[in-house]
Amino acid sequence: MTRVVVVGSGIAGLVTAIHASDEHEVVLVTKDVLGQSNTRYAQGGIAGVMFDDDSVESHVQDTLTAGAGLCDEEAVRVLCSEGPDRIRELIAYGVGFDRAGSAPDAAFAKGLEAAHSYPRVLHSGGDATGAAIEAALVHRVRETSVAIHEHTFLVDLLVEAGAVRGVLLRADGEEFVVRADAVVLATGGAGQLYPHTTNPLVATGDGAAAALRAGAALEDVEFVQFHPTALTSAGSFLVSEAVRGEGAVLRDASGERFMQRVHPDAELAPRDVVARGIAAAMAAQGGLPVVLDATMLGAERLATRFPGIDAAVRASGIDWSLEPVPVAPAAHYWMGGVRTDLHARTSLPWLYAVGEVARTGVHGANRLASNSLLEGAVFGARAAAAIGVDLQVGPSTSSGTGKGPVIELQDPVIELVEMHRSGPSTSSGTGNGPVIELVEMHPSTSSGTGTDGPSTGPGTGGGSGTRADGFSRAALHELLWRDAGLIRTGDGLAAAAGILDGWAAEQTAPPTTDEESEDQNLLLLARAIVAAALQRTESRGAHARSDFPLTDPIQAVSTTVVTTGAAARTIATPSLVGAAVHVPSGEMLASC
Ligand code: SIN
Repeated sequence: MTRVVVVGSGIAGLVTAIHASDEHEVVLVTKDVLGQSNTRYAQGGIAGVMFDDDSVESHVQDTLTAGAGLCDEEAVRVLCSEGPDRIRELIAYGVGFDRAGSAPDAAFAKGLEAAHSYPRVLHSGGDATGAAIEAALVHRVRETSVAIHEHTFLVDLLVEAGAVRGVLLRADGEEFVVRADAVVLATGGAGQLYPHTTNPLVATGDGAAAALRAGAALEDVEFVQFHPTALTSAGSFLVSEAVRGEGAVLRDASGERFMQRVHPDAELAPRDVVARGIAAAMAAQGGLPVVLDATMLGAERLATRFPGIDAAVRASGIDWSLEPVPVAPAAHYWMGGVRTDLHARTSLPWLYAVGEVARTGVHGANRLASNSLLEGAVFGARAAAAIGVDLQVGPSTSSGTGKGPVIELQDPVIELVEMHRSGPSTSSGTGNGPVIELVEMHPSTSSGTGTDGPSTGPGTGGGSGTRADGFSRAALHELLWRDAGLIRTGDGLAAAAGILDGWAAEQTAPPTTDEESEDQNLLLLARAIVAAALQRTESRGAHARSDFPLTDPIQAVSTTVVTTGAAARTIATPSLVGAAVHVPSGEMLASC
């Protein structure tokens, strides 16, 4: 029987595993417990054309508009046209979407979020949509033959002769190989790159970093979405856009609504516009958060429609039915990721990517609200189908759009890791286009003149200097928030690139713990994001450059990031991964 390893247990991983289990032996690996993923925290809901007076075309157009010229239209059409079937499948699995009346067959309640021209967002438990979906899928996957391995960390991909043939995992401090006929990355995003994020601690970009090291192409990595309204009184807890959809408004320190001056759609303007509007208002009032005024909704409505947010706000000591709550932008979603085709195939044979780790092309430069759960379900099912086809007819890979510049990111650290594990490197880069920029990889010699200490507001790309301190998660956070955050500058990005390369060059030992691996992954992805952001000399969607404030039509192409010498850094044969690690095909999860 053919074996498929799925890494990650959010909606994308679970849908893939459930679908693939019909035909294959499926091993599902997750670094925490099954229910712990970004999916679980999704509040707003899942967008889909589920009402007669809505249309696929309208959903397509809203998605393309939000994506600011960088979506792949074909992928968007797949998303919007196949989405309703996937939503019906979730309902069949037991997800109870909220209804507009008390009768069991009452119409679904309609939710509106920013930049949707129709209230097509279905929700469950008020603001607990992700939790409801995750619970139903976890229940369903446990009914299948899928072998579930929790607390198991993806260290790297196993690559032989340029194709992915399995995974190197770590559990209880032990590393071991699981061979597979196909590997699906569903590892989510990298919100933990930033100090203020709505993402859980597990969102450290492990799959994207492993893919990059293995030679897969990443695309659109410079596009990081900042959610406009995270509670500043409660650890960046998300206050759903749906609260604004229900009528809440943003006010500055003087109590004035300011978004009306920024965009005709005011609080329901595209997410990047609202986030930058808030950042500007905060800057004008010395970094103080703005407030979200939901008092007009009343205590009962707030508690029934938004029970989770209501509890978090009240736990932070605020009665939001009586007073506004302080909010600020926080990192929320990564539009970029491992480049895939319409069937989740990456640029490496037998490697597939679904969900936030993937760059399918549906989000472009700015994701439309509530499209990500839908993407996970649609492309998870497609990945399972594609694996079945590919196993019959042979592997196929995504060449992607490949129209934009290619950045080759050298990574001396990974080279050391692989030399340690598998002997000397032997091969060359994988870039398939002109190399626009070779990222400087030597340690920065600049002296620290930076603004140390925690940031108080959204990054504004000051590029205010460099720091000579060594790497730490806190230092990475501070650097990215300031120089690769909501608003960027060339100077800030260039300074950040030097510091990041210096930190990378200082990494001399292979990671041996999950935390060290996460740091390595975050640092590699930070370098990719900064390099791509530096390359993009325009403002588009979530990528805002104060030194290039306009959108440049010529740059309506995706930037690709690859690592040089990638094939050389992959594990040549399992038997070289330490004497005891060789796992014969057919044997499951043998430990070294
Ligand atoms: C929200 O509820 O505001 C977030 C929804 C999303 O990110 O899609």
